[in-house]
Amino acid sequence: MYKIQTLNNISVKGLDRLPRDRYEVASEIGHPDAVLVRSFKMHDMVVPETVVAIGRAGAGVNNIPVEAMSQRGVAVFNAPGANANAVKELVLAGMFLAARNICQAWDYTRSLEGDDASLNSQVEAGKKQFVGFELPGRTLGVIGLGAIGVKVANAASALGMNVVGFDPGITVGRAWELESDVRQAHTVDEVVGQSDFISVHVPINDHTRNLINGDRLRMMPAGGVVLNFSRAGIIDDEAAIAALDEGHLSAYVNDFPTNLTRQHPRCITLPHLGASTREAEENCAVLVADQIRDYLENGNVRNS
Ligand code: MLT
Repeated sequence: MYKIQTLNNISVKGLDRLPRDRYEVASEIGHPDAVLVRSFKMHDMVVPETVVAIGRAGAGVNNIPVEAMSQRGVAVFNAPGANANAVKELVLAGMFLAARNICQAWDYTRSLEGDDASLNSQVEAGKKQFVGFELPGRTLGVIGLGAIGVKVANAASALGMNVVGFDPGITVGRAWELESDVRQAHTVDEVVGQSDFISVHVPINDHTRNLINGDRLRMMPAGGVVLNFSRAGIIDDEAAIAALDEGHLSAYVNDFPTNLTRQHPRCITLPHLGASTREAEENCAVLVADQIRDYLENGNVRNS
């Protein structure tokens, strides 16, 4: 009997991949063989010595002490791509929210007072105040062309946007998945210098922390929008807020609220919702449970 410890809610469909005649699955379990985790930060816990595999039901592995686990010979699996569509949809939503001032306009509408007849003049004022712009013909820069970045690039291209992407490590397979009119740049600077929108899709590490800093924000054309549905810290929050205050950026959309960002009127910040769809949660859990099962039963290592 294999013993699996779950550290967060993992979708039932994922758990069903671990047949109960051979697997005992529980949030508290003695001597687990493997751990299934979503966002729980494993850095602070003592991982039992019996654990030989960790499955992360998501793409990023920054909540797992990967290096320490690798040194112990623990295999770490994740689910790259399983939530790519969910993130892509929220990036597109973020671009529309920003371009059409939807959050501000909704706040405005909710703040109106008076009976229906007296709302008319206020509606007219709002109509003038919240004039937006359209996406076709605007340029989107996508930094990081993994499973998510490629989907975002292709979707934006289908909307009629010009798309320029950058990823120094893009695989041939991924490059082939890009629509033919998505251009690939050679540097981050080349992307930011021409992009009305920038969306980052890279993991957080020493190379990507503050990748989009004040200097790079200033290289963007005036009125730009930056989006971070990847990890906190890839865009320098303070620099982005300063650029909003100077009027150089028109919106900062991100999934990682801080007390600085969540109160700014032009910062649309969400509670890490990028992959929060029923479909993505299920896809991630199913994929990672399959990988864990294949590893425990057959010793196979596959990570996609
Ligand atoms: C991911 O890494 O898969 C997403 O950011 C979602 C999450 O961490 O839950």
